[in-house]
Amino acid sequence: MNALDSKDLNTFQAPVIRELEALESDLKDALRSDLPLLQEISAALTEAPGKRIRPNMLFLASRCAGGSPEKAAAAALAVELIHTATLLHDDILDAHMTRRGRPTVFARWGADSAMIMGDYLFSKAFARLGEAKLDSAIEILAKVTNLMSLGELIQLQTRKDIDVSEEDYMEMIYRKTASLFSAASECGALTGNGSEKFRSEFASFGENIGLAFQITDDLLDYLAADVQIGKPIASDFTEGRVTLPFISAFRNAPEESRERVRELFHSSFDDEANWNEVVSFIQNYGGIEYSLNKARELGEKAKGALTPVSPSRERDALCFAADYIVHRISPFTA
Ligand code: IPE
Ligand code: IPE
Ligand code: MG
Ligand code: MG
Repeated sequence: MNALDSKDLNTFQAPVIRELEALESDLKDALRSDLPLLQEISAALTEAPGKRIRPNMLFLASRCAGGSPEKAAAAALAVELIHTATLLHDDILDAHMTRRGRPTVFARWGADSAMIMGDYLFSKAFARLGEAKLDSAIEILAKVTNLMSLGELIQLQTRKDIDVSEEDYMEMIYRKTASLFSAASECGALTGNGSEKFRSEFASFGENIGLAFQITDDLLDYLAADVQIGKPIASDFTEGRVTLPFISAFRNAPEESRERVRELFHSSFDDEANWNEVVSFIQNYGGIEYSLNKARELGEKAKGALTPVSPSRERDALCFAADYIVHRISPFTA
């Protein structure tokens, strides 16, 4: 299982299933090339597709705005290419060997190829937006790619820093994750020439859902098994990245327990017993509950942002996605 019930995914996808199918062939076209290396990497990327959450949101937002299907298709393609590029780069930074249940591009072709392929996907995304003359989307997504790289830079800079605050963490996840969710949702609204207010409601929806999504991803890193989510778990803490479940537990813990996890944080971490100790630490000092509540709160805020939007099947599917993102971790907390 992929931490994602296919029934849940169907509810989210149903109103825009045709657009999502077309996106798959647009992605294949965008990745088509005569270069053998590019062909190989592209084939690997298309064989193991992701959940397509961001384009799914974009298509739904576009429908809510009465948007143009052609514009939405170009914007959705760009958003998914940008997302894929950031994953290729992220896996180099973290030296991760699996993603979507398969070897990463980094693992199979090395850091150089993963880096260049990521750059290629970024540039392809902007080239397509230019062809489609989506100037406002270019403006939004150019800003976002800059924010995302800043987010990853901050994460790199704070690696091995156990004292990262919740505020710093929230700012970092806004940049590295929520900014793209926000842009995807706003670009959807934009394809319908929605008012400034309409656009900002969707941007706020995407931002809050993106924050909740990263918090639950960070919870899964503690609670899931790698086969369940198709990528390595137990990696954030052991590689020196503190995330909300840890930050909130660390804040509550008495000094002697804090001292012990500080020691573990700076150790080489090759023992499973040590990992179990860290998981118990975040459980005992309320890190899971705190993070879940925070994700729930953000999910509600996301739905609240869409209250002024006229009710429709598409708006319901977006609200459903906000719930799903929080609930996707229930199998692991039961
Ligand atoms: C993974 O995003 C990166 C994060 C922001 C946590 P997804 O979980 O949406 O990745 P795919 O595309 O479905 O693999
Ligand atoms: C999201 O953070 C990465 C990007 C926004 C590129 P993570 O580092 O937690 O994502 P995963 O867990 O590797 O998918
Ligand atoms: Mg990562
Ligand atoms: Mg993660």
